[in-house]
Amino acid sequence: MSQLLETIDKNRLPRHIAIIMDGNGRWAKEKGEDRLYGHFHGVESVRNIVEGCAELGVEYLTLYAFSTENWDRPEYEVVGLMELLVSTIRKEVESLDRNNIRLHVIGDMNMLPDYARKELDEALEITRANTGLNLIMALSYSGRWELLNAVKNIAWEVKQNRLSVEEIDQDTLQKFLCTSGFPDPELMIRTSGEYRISNFLLYQLAYAELYFTNVRWPDFRKENLYEAIIDYQNRERRFGKTSEQLVTP
Ligand code: IPE
Ligand code: IPE
Ligand code: MG
Repeated sequence: MSQLLETIDKNRLPRHIAIIMDGNGRWAKEKGEDRLYGHFHGVESVRNIVEGCAELGVEYLTLYAFSTENWDRPEYEVVGLMELLVSTIRKEVESLDRNNIRLHVIGDMNMLPDYARKELDEALEITRANTGLNLIMALSYSGRWELLNAVKNIAWEVKQNRLSVEEIDQDTLQKFLCTSGFPDPELMIRTSGEYRISNFLLYQLAYAELYFTNVRWPDFRKENLYEAIIDYQNRERRFGKTSEQLVTP
């Protein structure tokens, strides 16, 4: 593990890593257990990866915890996930604060049950002044929901004569996204062997490097994170240019 860690070039770390934490259900099923058992064990991975990112000095970590579409899962799973969310935040907020980690949430908070929203608001408030890792939880989030919301809010500003159509540029759009103030992720990791985006950060991932691993989320640990970062550091990010153009004279 330490050998992997030493291989990482600390000067070229991604500032922002985004993760689709997938595979909890299958992990549990493979052990003959209920899906909620998988979610429960996924929390240990969250703890481990948050710690790993903080130790490395990654500035932003976005974790996809619950999508807009996940509301359509069986009720017992949705309720179980909400309860797990609340109990985890309650348990972890002190440690986040102690480690100078600032919590953020992105998503449709109106969809969350009152008791979950209240718990989250408290945790946001407690960690507000922290200056270390920014931990962004995507909860009741989807990229299409976010973009639709942004379009509606921009249209409203135009209607109120606070913005003209000519003024709208990419910076304007960025400002109306939930992630305004955060840089775009350079690295997006998805666990459990699925090769799709599933409505995650559709706008922000435009030039992210995508990393897929078969490891199920409850088994994902720091060393898997290091492997992903090393893979990322071996890529050539061209942003539409040619390789030759990237060579600095
Ligand atoms: C990811 O694991 C966690 C959430 C979506 C909340 P899944 O629950 O999607 O697990 P699989 O993909 O069914 O194995
Ligand atoms: C994406 O995983 C959402 C989260 C990890 C929170 P899903 O398991 O819901 O995505 P699909 O259904 O496989 O695309
Ligand atoms: Mg899944």
